[in-house]
Amino acid sequence: MEINGNDLPQHIAIIMDGNGRWAAKHAIGRIRGHRKGVQAVRTVVRACREIGIKYLTLFALSVENMGRPQEEVKALMFLLDEYLSKEINDLQKQGIKLTTIGEIDNLTPQVKEKLLQAKTATADNNKMILNLALGYGGRDEIIFAVKKIIKDCQFSKIQLKDINKKVFAGYLQTAGIPDPDLLIRTSGEYRISNFLLWQMAYTEFYFTDVLWPDFQKKDLLTAIADYQNRERRFGLTSDQLKKNCRNNIKE
Ligand code: FPP
Repeated sequence: MEINGNDLPQHIAIIMDGNGRWAAKHAIGRIRGHRKGVQAVRTVVRACREIGIKYLTLFALSVENMGRPQEEVKALMFLLDEYLSKEINDLQKQGIKLTTIGEIDNLTPQVKEKLLQAKTATADNNKMILNLALGYGGRDEIIFAVKKIIKDCQFSKIQLKDINKKVFAGYLQTAGIPDPDLLIRTSGEYRISNFLLWQMAYTEFYFTDVLWPDFQKKDLLTAIADYQNRERRFGLTSDQLKKNCRNNIKE
């Protein structure tokens, strides 16, 4: 699959769905499906780095996922822990900086500690940002931002009249990260499931029936090629875009 290296999405976000169905299809337990899902994470992180994607956000665990049976949540924590231990050196070698969004206080203390170590160790890397959404919920993120703004107003750190889209975005956990250009969701589901609700206002959506554990570099390239065939108008008309093609029309 050919893609245009000059028109890459700067930021790709992925809802990695279908581990459970992949496991059912292979008549094995759900947890083994998640384990196979981690392999796909490795493949996709490496592929994004090779292709030249600057930001990759993976929805690894939603705030709602935390309510799954204890055994499954525990297994996901274990897999995350294992991933961080095994992958840290590789992330370093590839110049990848690890960041997170979501409530990492809800993770086990051991995973939280490993994450903090990995974030510190990779803080100066600048080839790509791997942003893991863990214990993340888009609505929670927005409420948290609103509360923080209200506090800052009360303490006169900011004035009501100064609040605009840019300022608001700076209060979100994704502050400093550009909005996703492309969202990929696997497994034939057509929802955004409380993921990056504010940030995806103008994101291009790509849905595929491929189950996450089967997702390969070729599937990523197909998604990018599809993205490159879209006309991103940001609410304007095609004619306006042509006239303003030298200006970067974005929100
Ligand atoms: C959705 O599949 C997947 C999850 C809830 C967890 C995603 C986690 C991983 C891929 C592994 C851990 C991540 C990292 C970064 C190491 P599902 O269980 O909802 O599948 P189903 O809809 O088929 O049941």
